[in-house]
Amino acid sequence: MESSRLLIDGGRKIEGEIRVHGAKNSVLPILAATLLCGGAKSGNAGFSRTCAASTVHNCPGLSDAFAAMRILRSLGCEISHEGSTVTVNSADADGDIISDGLMHEMRSSIVFLGAILGRVGRCRLSFPGGCELGPRPIDLHLEALRRLGVRITIDHGILDCTAGVRPTCADITLSLPSVGATENIMLYSALGSGETVIRNAAREPEIADLAGYLIKCGAEISGQGTSTLVINGVPELHGCEYSVMPDRIEAATYMGAAAITGGELMLTGVRPQDMYSCMSVFSEMGCGVYPYDDKVFISARKPITAVRTVRTMPYPGFPTDCQPIVLAALCKSQGTSVIVENIFENRFMAAPELRRMGANIKAEGKVAVIEGVKKLCGAPVRAYDLRAGAALVVAALGAEGQTEISDIHYIDRGYESIETAFSSVGADIKRI
Ligand code: UD1
Repeated sequence: MESSRLLIDGGRKIEGEIRVHGAKNSVLPILAATLLCGGAKSGNAGFSRTCAASTVHNCPGLSDAFAAMRILRSLGCEISHEGSTVTVNSADADGDIISDGLMHEMRSSIVFLGAILGRVGRCRLSFPGGCELGPRPIDLHLEALRRLGVRITIDHGILDCTAGVRPTCADITLSLPSVGATENIMLYSALGSGETVIRNAAREPEIADLAGYLIKCGAEISGQGTSTLVINGVPELHGCEYSVMPDRIEAATYMGAAAITGGELMLTGVRPQDMYSCMSVFSEMGCGVYPYDDKVFISARKPITAVRTVRTMPYPGFPTDCQPIVLAALCKSQGTSVIVENIFENRFMAAPELRRMGANIKAEGKVAVIEGVKKLCGAPVRAYDLRAGAALVVAALGAEGQTEISDIHYIDRGYESIETAFSSVGADIKRI
């Protein structure tokens, strides 16, 4: 099946106001967490009927979010979806298998492991292989679950997990602050008995958002936003109404477009406090960046300049997901910049495509050296992953002439109709 393409006529200033959607990396674990509601077994009567429905607002219309909803349905949840509000009723969710097809649709489906195990005590799914960003191991997820008494076998690429006796107190130190592993441990530990301490936990704001949802459902979690999380299992969780936090990576993408086109944007519905590392890079490029309560204004009236070495790090460091966006913007800066990618192996996928547009980037291993050029030129390019695709959109908006981006299904995984957002602020962009 040939996927859609984006046609972008570059060179127009991006100016106006954009409302940022709910965060992809928050909505996926929250949707997984809805499974835990009304999830306590009540004798032979099946699952407890107390409040198994959650209403999740600010849910972005992303293909990954729709894939998560398909997984929930396949597990027995009832879902209704209106605009950006999704209601999940997990009263009858007793499924314990995620099909191979659904696992492949979304790499992040591994976050369902902790939730399914927490709810039904068993889970079978195919082992997630590598992806566009390189190998995506789950050893930390599995090691932690084993520490929590889960028995795990892996046979012919199938992961079979069964909950066992949970220790009264489990103290788990992650060797690196994995976002997904932290989420899976939280999801598995929220329901049931025993205390779980996660040290060197990921501190990404999306983790605190998941904790916020779980706490509203009745979970006992403390330390959110810090690197030590303490979860005390409770016998039952109830559904609640919750609004997903704004997407800081989507916001950074719009900032990149304003920077490269010499534009001005007001981003609304954001949380500037989650975006400091990114905002400071755009300031260093010479943009005016002004955070307000729930808004960020960016003005790029002067040509952008090179920046000091940007190093991707776990939060609150510079996010790996924003790296390709900044890489694209720097292609048209004055001077030479260096980016060091510390999180994923294969995260300069946009570089060869940006070179086709006239960029001067040397990328080897973890390091990319970007020598700014005066102009980029439109070209046919391909999105090789989600953020590399977004980076190409940013570059195309700042390029002269027409760019055609293929394989944009990657972009749809993390942006709700990117063409609508950019058209509303002056871009000439359409989906064909
Ligand atoms: C999440 C985000 C993704 C973001 C990433 C890092 C979601 C849906 N995705 O991905 O957008 O880029 O965080 O901020 O929230 N690792 C191991 N063993 C493990 C787990 C991870 O070695 O068991 C390594 C990974 O290979 C990678 C690093 O840890 O090098 C970070 O991965 P992790 O934080 O787990 O990222 P994800 O949760 O997959």
